[in-house]
Amino acid sequence: MLFGGPDNVGFTIEWAMAELIRCPHILLQLQRELTDIVGLDRLVDESDLGKLPFLKYVIKETLRMHPPIPVVLGGTTKDCVLGGYSVPRGSRIFIDAWAINRDCETWIDPDTFRPSRFMPNGEAIGLDPQGGSDEFLSFGFGRRSCPGQGLSQHTVEFAVAQLVHGFNWKPPDGMKPMELDMTETIGATVSRATRLMAVPTPRLTCPL
Ligand code: HEM
Repeated sequence: MLFGGPDNVGFTIEWAMAELIRCPHILLQLQRELTDIVGLDRLVDESDLGKLPFLKYVIKETLRMHPPIPVVLGGTTKDCVLGGYSVPRGSRIFIDAWAINRDCETWIDPDTFRPSRFMPNGEAIGLDPQGGSDEFLSFGFGRRSCPGQGLSQHTVEFAVAQLVHGFNWKPPDGMKPMELDMTETIGATVSRATRLMAVPTPRLTCPL
């Protein structure tokens, strides 16, 4: 809990900001939502989060494309057949969440950052038999899924909301947004290979 949790939350905030800076039209759409709901004369408050649906789609899309734990562990409670292979009861299985989150049979344009896929009537609806839209495995599933999911989503949403509401963001040194390096590390947890560098300019009328 102590070692895994904070890293994953930090990685997700950094990925979300990188994707937004790389896609200025989506950054603008999120800023518009924040301006409509919060205004420009005060900071975002935790109580605003429930009124910011597009922010939630941005974080879901970030977690879909960049699950900090790319391979999750599972087990079989009975004999079963998976992808044509017989798997006996009690087997330990490794599930490639990264690949499932980017499966082109499930997601349209899986390598494109498009938060609107999580909107009502978006392509992600109907993937989950429970009727939800969380058909990504970034928090695992079942009894051993991440107990920190609610806390993490809330923390990431709050941090990204404050960064995006408080500042306009550009890549450094005249770099074009699409030139931002999005290389991932390889390992049990996946983060950006290079730290995100970006230039903020204030956009609020109130003191920060
Ligand atoms: C964006 C942030 C986070 C992501 C993406 C994430 C993802 C995951 C994943 C994929 C698993 C493994 C599930 C499996 O193998 O089926 C896991 C397990 C776990 N996570 Fe998280 N996590 C995050 C943040 C946190 C935080 C903030 C905490 C605690 C405050 C936390 C506590 C745990 C614990 C205790 C487990 C082990 C659960 C078990 O084995 O029963 N995580 N997490």
